[in-house]
Amino acid sequence: MVDIACGRGRHTLAALRDGLPCLGVDRNAAHLHELRAAAREERLGAPRLLRADLESAPHPPLRRERFGAVLVFRYLHRPLIPQLAALLRPGGLLLYETFTLRQRELGYGPRREEFLLREGELPGLFPSLRVLSHWEGLREGERPAWLSALAAVRPS
Ligand SMILES: C[S@@+](CC[C@H](N)C(=O)[O-])C[C@H]1O[C@@H](n2cnc3c(N)ncnc32)[C@H](O)[C@@H]1O
Repeated sequence: MVDIACGRGRHTLAALRDGLPCLGVDRNAAHLHELRAAAREERLGAPRLLRADLESAPHPPLRRERFGAVLVFRYLHRPLIPQLAALLRPGGLLLYETFTLRQRELGYGPRREEFLLREGELPGLFPSLRVLSHWEGLREGERPAWLSALAAVRPS
């Protein structure tokens, strides 16, 4: 499994807690450092982490590896989308969730259109994958968020 733009490891750590190996990728060294410390604190072992800028290189540094699952949460760089789909093994699962344009109504998070999904856009970004589920709306909670969430599989 790979967690793209893993940040402090919300999902990398969740995977490790479930005993699932997960590679965390992010450009922010401080976030990766915190992730490593949290994994140590919880005795989850040393996670596999890769510090990389996913936007500056013509291809992600991961191009030779294939994963059973690709996680992308709260990150959007549309030029990277085809390469994310290509990271999946046949039968592999993509879980993608990030903000939609309406997030701007809530006063936090990204404001630029390039970082926000248009209504109904997310499933269409992955034409080579089979959509298992797609949801869009306001997620209530301590910090409400306008999100689009997709689960899709690469056909075998
Ligand atoms: C809002 S955080 C989301 C973190 C995590 N996925 C989560 O949902 O908790 C966005 C992350 O994207 C990372 N990021 C932004 N641009 C990046 C880039 N060009 N290459 C790699 N990581 C990047 C940031 O460093 C940050 O950790």
